[in-house]
This record gives sequence, C-alpha cells and structure tokens, in this order.
Amino acid sequence: MEMYRRLQFADLGDERGKLVVIEGESAIPFAIQRVFYIYGSDDTVVRGKHANLRSEFVLVNVAGSSKVMVTDGERKEVVSLDKPMEGLYLPRMVWKEMYDFSPDSILLVMASTHYDGEEYIRDFEEYRRIVSGEERDGKSSG
Ligand code: TYD
Repeated sequence: MEMYRRLQFADLGDERGKLVVIEGESAIPFAIQRVFYIYGSDDTVVRGKHANLRSEFVLVNVAGSSKVMVTDGERKEVVSLDKPMEGLYLPRMVWKEMYDFSPDSILLVMASTHYDGEEYIRDFEEYRRIVSGEERDGKSSG
C-alpha cells in the first residue's frame, strides 16, 4: 500500500509576501472536514503514535520543521517537513509518529474526517494485527 505522498503547493506570492492555497479535492486528495495544528512541541516529544481506520491527513510545517516516521508495519520511512509549500499526504491505516520539532514548529494538519476517537488505533501490536488482516483480505488503502 501507499504509505505517503509528498504534495507540492503552488506559490501565489508576490512582492508583498507569500500566499499558499490548499483546496480540498484538488490540491489534496480529499475534502477537508477538520483542521488542527500542533505547536509548542520540541525535540524531546514524540506525538502521534497511532493509525486511523478511516481518516486521511495532509501535514504541512507552515513554520519550523519536524519529522514524520511512517510505517505500515513492514516498511518504515522518515519524511522531513520544513517547507510551507510542501505537504505530506497520509492515507488511512498507516502508523505515524511526529518528532524532532523545532522550537518554532507549527505543524498544520488537514483531515478527511471530523474527530472520532473510536477510529484511532493507539496500540502498535493491535495495528499490526489489523493491517495484516486487511492485507490478507485485499482491502486497499483507498
Ligand atoms: P492526540 O491524538 O494524542 O494528538 P497527537 O496525535 O498530535 O499526538 O490528541 C491529543 C488530545 O486531543 C486527545 O485527547 C484527543 C484530542 N483531539 C481532539 O479532540 N480532536 C482532534 O481532532 C485531535 C487531533 C485530537
């Protein structure tokens, strides 16, 4: 399954400064139902550590930098985020951990769903069981 996709957003800036626009279902693969942002984290914390049964996400470090570890239980990749014009698309059912936040990091997250704590898988062994079951049953990541 696809674990992530890097997205490049257009720069609509001019001599007055930068402007980046992110429209749902065109610049990113889903309609945006929720936006949240994470800041005030530092290089000692690890956030995330979960997978989502339904939600897809796009992450953008609109200021500062952070790293995102993505795994499907088999493969594992680390993506650095440090550009306001660059997004990271995460499909449903990947395990993600965000860490190494710079002091000025503002990590903007767009989600395809409203918040539902029930669709979060927060135990890695449980995640591995579910994802290997889906692989067996041939369920796609969408
Ligand atoms: P959490 O999922 O632990 O954040 P992160 O993935 O960044 O480590 O969320 C922290 C708390 O905020 C937790 O109690 C759930 C709540 N929360 C919401 O109520 N709505 C949301 O959209 C999100 C992302 C979190």
